[in-house]
Amino acid sequence: GEPGLKNYYKDYFPIGVAVSPQVLKGPEAALIKKHFNSLTPENAMKMGPIHPEENKYNWAPADEIAQFAKVNKMKLRGHTLCWHNQTPNWMFTDTKGDTVTKEVLLKRLKDHITTVVSRYKGTIYAWDVVNEAIDDNDSKYLRESAWYKICGEEYIAKAFEYAHAADPKAKLYYNDYATEEPGKRERIYKLVKSLVEANVPIHGVGLQAHWSIYEPDADAIRESISKFSALGLDVQITELDVSVYKLEHSRRERRPDDIDTYTPEIEQKQAERYKMFFEVFREHKKQLTGVTFWNVSDKHSWLDSFPVAGRKNYPLLFNQQLEPKKAYWEVIKF
Ligand code: XIL
Repeated sequence: GEPGLKNYYKDYFPIGVAVSPQVLKGPEAALIKKHFNSLTPENAMKMGPIHPEENKYNWAPADEIAQFAKVNKMKLRGHTLCWHNQTPNWMFTDTKGDTVTKEVLLKRLKDHITTVVSRYKGTIYAWDVVNEAIDDNDSKYLRESAWYKICGEEYIAKAFEYAHAADPKAKLYYNDYATEEPGKRERIYKLVKSLVEANVPIHGVGLQAHWSIYEPDADAIRESISKFSALGLDVQITELDVSVYKLEHSRRERRPDDIDTYTPEIEQKQAERYKMFFEVFREHKKQLTGVTFWNVSDKHSWLDSFPVAGRKNYPLLFNQQLEPKKAYWEVIKF
């Protein structure tokens, strides 16, 4: 039979996929085993899902994913320890509902990271420690999240230090999107360079790669990979998908021209983009330590409800029947 994506790429990098416990129990399971040799929990290890109350951890979904990875001899990435989204409100407030001090928040962050990283020590080989801390606006620098407002810049270095103390062998990543936009690329570079220079234990930069059939171009991707790896850091593609719509991260409204159709022309254009993206990845096999897709197939993608609800997307290599699409055949042809 057909050998599967991971086998074509065995001399390049692991091929990963973001999963929920549900897809591991569904018809997707066989496809996941055949094509992928790395897993990332799509939501199960985020602060809200895994640590819903101060003294309560919800381990079951994360453990199921870790167990599937172990049984099937797959790598496991951890995602994510510190983010502005999917973080429970209790983290930032005291019992009266007032905002906590910097000291309290850093203590809570330390407890969270120590507990989660220790549980998966030796199992998770790489963690997205801090996710999306950079602002999208070219006139700004760090995102004004609750983390930043309460702690200032310091929470970022602290998060890496706590994670490193809990598992000194884990590879620690800063992870973000739109890393190919020149202004944002520069801001991310400024941040990670300052961490490296301060001897903070950071080992890599994750390029989320929520891309589209229109952008980015090959040179923009090359520039990002080269620039970050020149700091001595590993680079990973952590959340790859190729939207059939133009990228508009900040959009929240549906418009009449949101077409919800996937024509043969669009499928063809998408196949060409995937071909180009993987050519660039293969060029950089020395710098790239992994390529992970965000979701398994077009049956379900987070882009079906982002940035607007109710607009179907078709961003992956497998269709809604879990069959390989044109893009798949381009990605394995080399
Ligand atoms: C997304 C998940 O796929 C969704 O299920 C969830 O509702 C929201 O988060 N950047 C990230 C990921 O780092 O954690 C996000 O995942 C997608 C964007």
